[in-house]
Amino acid sequence: MSATELLDDLEAGELSVEFEGLEPWEVLGWALERFGDRLSLSTAFQDGDVALIDMAYRIDPAVRVFSIDTGRLPQETHDLVEELRERYPGLRLELLSPDGLHVQRLVDRHGPNLFLRSVEQRLLCCNVRKVQPLNRALAELDCWVTGLRRDQWASRTDIRKVEIDHDHDAIVKLNPLAEWTHDEVWDYLGENGVPTHALYAKGYTSIGCTPCTRAIAPGEPTRAGRWWWETDAPKECGMHCSIETGGFEHELHAILGDQAHA
Ligand code: ADX
Ligand code: SF4
Repeated sequence: MSATELLDDLEAGELSVEFEGLEPWEVLGWALERFGDRLSLSTAFQDGDVALIDMAYRIDPAVRVFSIDTGRLPQETHDLVEELRERYPGLRLELLSPDGLHVQRLVDRHGPNLFLRSVEQRLLCCNVRKVQPLNRALAELDCWVTGLRRDQWASRTDIRKVEIDHDHDAIVKLNPLAEWTHDEVWDYLGENGVPTHALYAKGYTSIGCTPCTRAIAPGEPTRAGRWWWETDAPKECGMHCSIETGGFEHELHAILGDQAHA
């Protein structure tokens, strides 16, 4: 991170207070101005993610966007990537893959469906396929933008619009949609004709990898379809909070060898 762009926790807190009540594109506009090419939007192509792509592209069509292709994503996600590239010509979307050798070791040692066996094995899979590539991507940035919202899950009710990401070298984590509700996001998408993920029409409300995501039943919380077989786990993958299990770190080390990132 370059010294001129450093924010500390105090400044981030003050900006968060200042930004409450501002529209997401106003927050994005501030960040694009401040961080330029050292900023990138993280996207899983969910509802809020594509709203942010639309907003950011309107401000600066050269905005950087990245997504981690875990190797287990639904076909509909890949279809949406193509649709977005058509809709936003020249979109600087980087699709990042996990390290092939790490995935090979993971599957060799534990099989392709390890996530069904235990929460620890699931977190191991998420770590190799998502968290490690995320760490590599963030090592090059001063600011990453997410589609996190307070209304998504208990672990997200306190997120602020500007945070210092102490899990990632104290870069800035920007959550411009923190204050928005699900309905506000969908109003924006409809009003602006933004392409959306086809699985929403099939009852999905949160979308990740194919084997770990399903549609929810009426009345269930929106993240209930993620790792739905887990009853006492945090429904997080480790991208947004480091998860200590005490169990999988040794195995992770064996898989990563000496190439572990953070
Ligand atoms: S997760 O931790 O359960 O996977 P969730 O799916 O709610 O997270 O997504 C929250 C935000 O994390 C997204 O809005 C996006 O900013 C980021 N994100 C999630 N998955 C990815 C991914 N595969 N690649 C890049 N960013 C992602
Ligand atoms: Fe692996 Fe499932 Fe996590 Fe995707 S969501 S990385 S398949 S455990």
